[in-house]
Amino acid sequence: MEPTAGEYPSGTGVPSVPALRSPQGRTEVRIGVVGCGYWGSKHVRVLHGIQDVERVVAIDASEERLLELKRSFPNMIVHRSLEAALPDVDAVIVATPPRSHVALAMTAMSAGKGVLVEKPLATSSVDAQLLLDESKRLGVTLMVGHTFEHNSAVWKLRDLVQSGEIGDIHYLDSARLNLGLYQSDVNVVWDLAPHDVSIFNFILGSTPSSVQAWGSRHAHQTLEDVAYLRLTYAELNVTANIHVSWLDPCKVRRVTAVGSRRMVVYNDLSSDEPIRIFDKGVTLADGNGAAGTIPLSYRYGDISSPYLVSQEPLDVQDRHLIDCVRTGAVPLTDGANGAAVVRVLEAAQVSLAEDRPVVLAGASMNGHAHRLASAF
Ligand SMILES: NC(=O)c1ccc[n+]([C@@H]2O[C@H](COP(=O)([O-])OP(=O)(O)OC[C@H]3O[C@@H](n4cnc5c(N)ncnc54)[C@H](O)[C@@H]3O)[C@@H](O)[C@H]2O)c1
Repeated sequence: MEPTAGEYPSGTGVPSVPALRSPQGRTEVRIGVVGCGYWGSKHVRVLHGIQDVERVVAIDASEERLLELKRSFPNMIVHRSLEAALPDVDAVIVATPPRSHVALAMTAMSAGKGVLVEKPLATSSVDAQLLLDESKRLGVTLMVGHTFEHNSAVWKLRDLVQSGEIGDIHYLDSARLNLGLYQSDVNVVWDLAPHDVSIFNFILGSTPSSVQAWGSRHAHQTLEDVAYLRLTYAELNVTANIHVSWLDPCKVRRVTAVGSRRMVVYNDLSSDEPIRIFDKGVTLADGNGAAGTIPLSYRYGDISSPYLVSQEPLDVQDRHLIDCVRTGAVPLTDGANGAAVVRVLEAAQVSLAEDRPVVLAGASMNGHAHRLASAF
């Protein structure tokens, strides 16, 4: 089924935490964005367009950032620290550099606020689990900013993979390359690969059973700026390759799914045709090839591009956050989803440092993935 604007594929809508009930009987959400830099300022912009948001509060340690934002939103309440803002908000988006995510999210949750934490949820699996446990104990919403899981192109890719339309999956591949932006507290794996791991887990409905990673440092002395990851989804017999780089002359944002019947390319930089389906393939041909060769038959067919609902994924994601905070529903990208991606990134980090594959315990499959596995 084609998802429509703001409509999620499956698995959402089950109340998990109490719905928002303020003493004044409000159902609109007052939301704080802590960290209003490159990405946090985009949250501030989209939140201003959401009807069920009563108030947006900007929180940043930098006075300069706050003054800049005030130019666009003169009436917005601003604070220099999360603690000072807590009385003014019902929920918080944490969009600071990754190493500060856990402390800020814990502060907000301890005050009873629902939280969306930007990717990566945390910088260790222990910390990710801590957030997950605390959100359950305190009965507050915990969501992770895996924005691509709120993207209609990724929903389409998932449909094509899950429905068997592209046949058996030979392999998945992604490239997320550009010149910069170098981050100061995590390497390129923790900065860019969360997107690809979350996309692959989402479209396969599973988590990898092992990870191998290779990385190198070039322009930066301590942080890897180029890395390759190979995720193995053993139960599905699928491998997914990820190339991430801060040191590439070309901007590339591409995910490829190669199946036995079709190949699909999702190009996030294409606004008019983000998904292209290629009726192309290679099969073993009947008969014998020339001496010493394997006979292969190549198929070159049509290329098609499906219609997709055009809606900014960050807007879809933040509307979903507001709905979850208001109703107590489980977010599509909940804390468990965020923790699963962190486990993969952590395994990749170990693999990179020790030059060996790392096996992950407890790879999980949901109902969709069981259907996918049985189709293989
Ligand atoms: N979902 C996505 O597609 C996406 C895209 C880009 C970045 N991100 C994530 O967003 C987060 C922020 O990245 P960025 O590129 O915007 O970083 P940035 O450096 O541009 O902005 C970070 C801001 O946080 C502020 N800050 C830092 N610590 C603070 C604290 N304790 N209290 C208040 N303010 C504090 C800084 O002053 C700065 O303005 C990261 O986790 C990153 O991974 C997500």
